[in-house]
Amino acid sequence: MEEALVAVVTGGSRGIGRAFVLEAVKRGYRVVFNYRSRREDAEQTATAAMELGGEAIPVQADLEDFDAVATIAGAARRAGPVALLVNNAGLGEEFTLEQMSRRDWERSIAVNLTAPTFLIKELREDLVARRGSIVNVSSDGGVAGSLHGAPYGATKAGLVGLTKTMARELAPHVRCNAIAPGPVATEMWFAIDPETQRRVTELETPLLRIAQPEDIARAGLDIASWPDATGIVVVLDGGRIM
Ligand SMILES: NC(=O)c1ccc[n+]([C@@H]2O[C@H](COP(=O)([O-])OP(=O)(O)OC[C@H]3O[C@@H](n4cnc5c(N)ncnc54)[C@H](OP(=O)(O)O)[C@@H]3O)[C@@H](O)[C@H]2O)c1
Repeated sequence: MEEALVAVVTGGSRGIGRAFVLEAVKRGYRVVFNYRSRREDAEQTATAAMELGGEAIPVQADLEDFDAVATIAGAARRAGPVALLVNNAGLGEEFTLEQMSRRDWERSIAVNLTAPTFLIKELREDLVARRGSIVNVSSDGGVAGSLHGAPYGATKAGLVGLTKTMARELAPHVRCNAIAPGPVATEMWFAIDPETQRRVTELETPLLRIAQPEDIARAGLDIASWPDATGIVVVLDGGRIM
């Protein structure tokens, strides 16, 4: 029997990342995912993968710490041939300029931009060897300006630039695309103040709905499999910023 291809998903303990892990398992990948601190949630993801008849291997690694990149890449290579990278983990902390410190800014840059970039660098040869695919999880706030302030808006826009740049640099071997969700039903969204939630979904979103994590994961892995797609940013936000 052929060895299963490995998918790497960052932030797989819950939310959109967990949905990516389980969708990748359904599509036949062995998955390696990291989490920051919520071990029980990570174990629940691994159990859910097992219940689907697959395998998802949790790795504790805080992406604020640069060594996390090597830890995750090492675990992925030990699991088998790496063919897919989903840069999902992100900090959604909210700051006005007045509130934001340099430390806050640097934390978001580290997690939302430096870690995805260096995971691509670290896994480049593996992905090239399998003509693999990369999906970066941006946000509609990275395309049209964010409600969460400078660190989130700038890093999510940075991921759009990274996606297009990597699509050029890694072609024709590896495809690199991004999804840019609007509201998705996870802890990150429910942490936003209720008045803003109401305004966005009831007044600004033509489809009057928030996405489920599974909707985003299915779309992300579909895009990852399209042979002609590279450098595209697919906005999935119920029509909010069309
Ligand atoms: N939810 C939305 O409305 C929405 C909209 C647009 C874009 N997005 C993007 O979608 C992605 C996933 O969002 P979500 O809503 O699923 O987020 P979430 O519910 O807050 O989950 C975040 C995940 O990332 C991990 N993580 C966070 N910081 C980390 C760090 N420093 N090191 C390692 N792992 C870390 C968490 O691990 P622990 O469980 O251990 O903390 C968790 O697995 C993010 O990039 C976000 O910006 C979300």
